[in-house]
Amino acid sequence: MTARPRTALSGERLDVFCPSDGKAFASIAASGAEDVDRAAAAAARAFEGPWRKVSALERGRMLTRLSALVKKHAEELAALESRDTGKPARQGRADAAVTERYYEFYGGAADKLMGDQIPFLDGFTALTLREPHGVVAGIIPWNYPLQIGARVLGAALAMGNTLVLKPAEDASLTTIRIAELALEAGIPEGVVNVVTGLGATAGAALSRHGQVDYVTFTGSPMTGTAIQQAAAVNNRGVTMELGGKSPQIVFADADLVKALPVIVNAIIQNGGQTCSAGSRVLIEKKIYQPVAEALAHRFAQLTAGPHVADLDLGPMVNRRQAERVAAMIAAAKEAGIPILAEGKIAPDAPSGGYYVAPALFGSVDPMAAIAQEEVFGPVLSLLPFDDEDDAIRIANSTEFGLVAGVWTADGGRQHRVAKAVRAGQVWVNSYGAGGGVELPFGGFKKSGHGREKGLEALYDMSATKTIVFNHG
Ligand code: NAI
Ligand code: MG
Repeated sequence: MTARPRTALSGERLDVFCPSDGKAFASIAASGAEDVDRAAAAAARAFEGPWRKVSALERGRMLTRLSALVKKHAEELAALESRDTGKPARQGRADAAVTERYYEFYGGAADKLMGDQIPFLDGFTALTLREPHGVVAGIIPWNYPLQIGARVLGAALAMGNTLVLKPAEDASLTTIRIAELALEAGIPEGVVNVVTGLGATAGAALSRHGQVDYVTFTGSPMTGTAIQQAAAVNNRGVTMELGGKSPQIVFADADLVKALPVIVNAIIQNGGQTCSAGSRVLIEKKIYQPVAEALAHRFAQLTAGPHVADLDLGPMVNRRQAERVAAMIAAAKEAGIPILAEGKIAPDAPSGGYYVAPALFGSVDPMAAIAQEEVFGPVLSLLPFDDEDDAIRIANSTEFGLVAGVWTADGGRQHRVAKAVRAGQVWVNSYGAGGGVELPFGGFKKSGHGREKGLEALYDMSATKTIVFNHG
């Protein structure tokens, strides 16, 4: 078992498509349960081998070297990510830069998480160690494979785990490349393993595997439920990051010059295929009309096109996703929700690509499907509100709770709203869809549980061991 399984035991393969033109340009191994067995066994062997004795300092240095290699190969990784996912070239470059930063951060953090010494009975000394789980399975989605792979790999290895990564069938190429770079960085064979293949086969086999000690997943709530049920067979711990319907709350005293470009970017970045996309904008009624007009003006100019053209947004990741988003736009129109503006698809965009024009809906009822369900596309809903209480009620009215933005100059209100909103991350007069590797990230409610990113992720990626000495 190598860190880069090029072939499945069955010999089966899956085509790799570029969403910009819908054409296959490579293929990956379609791994089955027997390939997952090999990968999990390799990770388990590596965990019991010399890896256990590698110091935290040395693990950190390996990750730091991986960071340097990501920097060295940034252009290549960025181009590969863009081609595989259809994301605009500059987004691919931004992802490569954040990935470099993740490995830098976790490289530096590896030897800085301390245990405790606990005051206990006379004659005893009690202390805690942070121990690795063992084999971590990371099942990651197609929207930001470089970044999400890095936050899993960085935190897992910093704490001394070994890893089996299962990238999404729609975007596996950069994960395979990172596994190669991990070897080059001196991370021992078997510590980072990649299995490519379908979720229903490779992903399902991995999440119920007896040699997997902990599972971390980013993706849809439905798949999250399936993975938790599979992991429950072995009573394994899980971290679940399951998307959102994140609100941006704009009060009448907000600095709109600052707010509006951030609000547009938070839904257009990566074509809206971002777990933390700001997909609902709650606007105080007093300023609803001018804000809606300004956003409509901007939305009408937005253009989707192939990744190489580097326009406002690229295509959706696959045909199913494009059809799903288009159907949700059509259903909202059908339901009579006013459409304030629609963007464009570049006239020279290849006809086989999976393009969807951005759509802006106004005066949306907070309970409407378009305001409740994760679209995962360039679709923004504007929701008017009366006052602070009304804004908080609407913000909290979905099943999700991942991120929120609060735009106001009033300091008291900033604190009140930030506390009242049920979201794992709240941004005041700013909004970060992705990035911020230092900042703990994760959900309340249906958005999941556990935290990734920052030092906080290191707690999820380890378990406390308490040791008590009776020295009399
Ligand atoms: P998905 O959640 O099914 O796929 C994500 C990952 O899970 C992929 O690696 C996939 O191979 C794997 N997977 C799928 N079924 C599995 C199973 N039974 N056991 C283990 N692993 C499994 O997401 P999908 O179908 O690609 O997209 C559907 C919707 O999910 C999107 O429209 C979007 O709303 C949401 N989504 C949310 C993401 C987020 O970042 N929160 C990322 C991707 C999708
Ligand atoms: Mg692809």
